[in-house]
Amino acid sequence: MARAHNFCSGPCILPTAVLDELAAELPDFGDSGMSLIEMSHRDPVYDRVHHETLDRLRRLCHVPDDVDVLLLQGGATLQFAMVAMNLLVDDRPGVYSVSGSWGKKALADAAKIGRTAVAWDGADGGFTAMPTADQLDLPSDARYLHVTSNETIGGIRIPEFYDVDVPQVIDMSSDYLTRAIPWDAVDVVYGGAQKNLGPAGLAVVFVRRSVLDEIPDTVPSYLSYATHAGADSLANTPPVFAIWATGKVLAWIEDQGGVPAMEKRAADRSAMIYRAIDGSEGFYRNPVAVADRSHTNIVFRLATEDLEAAFLAEAGEAGLVNLKGHRSVGGIRASVYNALPDESVQVLVEHMASFAAANS
Ligand SMILES: Cc1ncc(COP(=O)(O)O)c(C=O)c1O
Repeated sequence: MARAHNFCSGPCILPTAVLDELAAELPDFGDSGMSLIEMSHRDPVYDRVHHETLDRLRRLCHVPDDVDVLLLQGGATLQFAMVAMNLLVDDRPGVYSVSGSWGKKALADAAKIGRTAVAWDGADGGFTAMPTADQLDLPSDARYLHVTSNETIGGIRIPEFYDVDVPQVIDMSSDYLTRAIPWDAVDVVYGGAQKNLGPAGLAVVFVRRSVLDEIPDTVPSYLSYATHAGADSLANTPPVFAIWATGKVLAWIEDQGGVPAMEKRAADRSAMIYRAIDGSEGFYRNPVAVADRSHTNIVFRLATEDLEAAFLAEAGEAGLVNLKGHRSVGGIRASVYNALPDESVQVLVEHMASFAAANS
């Protein structure tokens, strides 16, 4: 079967080796006479898979001992609310850097739950740059600063994580395991798995243990981080398929050289696409401040929407799919997550060159 060059922003392409293993193991897991997804999540066979995924996350991300790893459902979206429910426990505000659509949504949900404030808002600049630390307006009583390390729609990233006096909450949905986590600076890090880690259905959440002691009893049990931390993320039925598959992707990442290798890959591959944009004499345009260009979601425009439609149609003929920009902004977006083969990026830049030559 020919695999598509799949630039989907999520759910995303997974390593072919992982899909093959899943297919082979699916009907009969470890001679149990059933698949893993038909088995009790209390079965020792599943328990081993579950803890392997947790252990791999700890190892690959160098998670400190005072941080818990949680495997939850509800995607990153549920974390917009859970962060506020678990951390906004007194009158101190959660402070948000609104760097794009996702930061905006995180703030909107938190504001329904507790006191919030805006540290910075990039709407006037069309969300084309991240703030520097000294542009952030942080009230002295801030409980946390919420940042989105990579805005998946706008194609911007925080180049260096902030060094500020307030604990940070970081949404790393679209650059998980493509860069190191700044552990000293954070209380919570979260993201959906379906971009760099595995299939949809799982959110990976890291929570500093000191947060757990502060959570009010009024928080419903599934929504309290303490519930999951106290039960190794087995308080209720977990998303077993997503956890199993994610464990396999994590093993694959380990084999490739871990996060440093993924970080280098993301930098190199995004640079290839930015070179194709910058070298096109204006045929392709990337609106983002150069220092803040995303390493995982590369956005660009052509002169007209008709030309963009033709670009996408011809890309599809070359097997390059899911390159359409987010419906809220249009244009083109290439999502270059961990599992995308290098060859796909090569085919994309070749398509960009030949399309520009034929249409300039
Ligand atoms: C940065 C960011 N945050 C949050 C979300 C929402 O994630 P989910 O679909 O897992 O709820 C997304 C989804 O694309 C995202 O890119």
